Amino acid sequence: MSVAPRAGNGKITVPDILSRKSFSLSASPQTKTKITCLTAYDYPTARLLDEAGVDVLLVGDSVGMVVLGYDSTLPVTLDEMLHHVRAVRRGTRRALLVADMPYGSFHVSVEESVRNALRLVKEGGAEAVKIEGGERRIELIAKLVEAEIPVMGHVGLTPQSIHAMGGFRVQGKTTDAARQLERDAHAVEAAGAFAVVLESVPRELAARITEKLRIPTIGIGAGPDCDGQVLVFHDLVGLTMGHTPKFARACANLSAEISRAVTQYCEDVRAANFPSDAESYHSSAELKEDMLSRQKT
Ligand code: KIV
Repeated sequence: MSVAPRAGNGKITVPDILSRKSFSLSASPQTKTKITCLTAYDYPTARLLDEAGVDVLLVGDSVGMVVLGYDSTLPVTLDEMLHHVRAVRRGTRRALLVADMPYGSFHVSVEESVRNALRLVKEGGAEAVKIEGGERRIELIAKLVEAEIPVMGHVGLTPQSIHAMGGFRVQGKTTDAARQLERDAHAVEAAGAFAVVLESVPRELAARITEKLRIPTIGIGAGPDCDGQVLVFHDLVGLTMGHTPKFARACANLSAEISRAVTQYCEDVRAANFPSDAESYHSSAELKEDMLSRQKT
């Protein structure tokens, strides 16, 4: 199936990501290149991002909201994830491919969760899985690592906990919440995760966690001091339909560009300007002659 992670061929591996941990922010200047991560859900996007040099492609369960039109990530199934992971696998050569474990796929028992994660690796071609949650995932993360499945943790705002959290809110704003978030990040590291996503966390708290952990932190709405950054691709290119959070920098406005192209197409078709003669196939002289002669009869 995929690309063998041979040292020196440019393929990004889990050890490569671990080696990108920056040194202590207070002790020495930033010496490592920040990790770049974007979500991808389909073959063409995966190819474009991979060829542009993104380090980590995450098939996030955000696919449910930005591609499938659900109003949260909760309905996304393992089969839906597999469908998208396979497409991204086919378009990815260099980047590390991480697949999100969707809601319900790791909540029943550790055995079932490991079985589900194995499907993402064996059938989807993922090289690692991402799991939302901190301290309460210690046992599961350790079991996945034991089963040779690298794990990316995810703490702070975990969208699968939307009902428990009462909405998409910045996390770690009180002293108690900040301390819990630190414990969560440390728990994920202790359990064997190779990196951890910090989502919607005050900059200062993310910086502190980044400084304390030995594994890289990948921030989304967590300020610039993390070891890397992740964004939802649709936010980055201006394709998101609903609300976009303030941290989501749009570097393009593809929605406007697509609307413009589609309006132009409709106008051209209605005005019979499309297709032109140059955009049409043509019969041979012999066939044209034949059709002409049959027209006369
Ligand atoms: O599902 C997702 O896209 C994510 C990222 C935003 C980290 O979890």
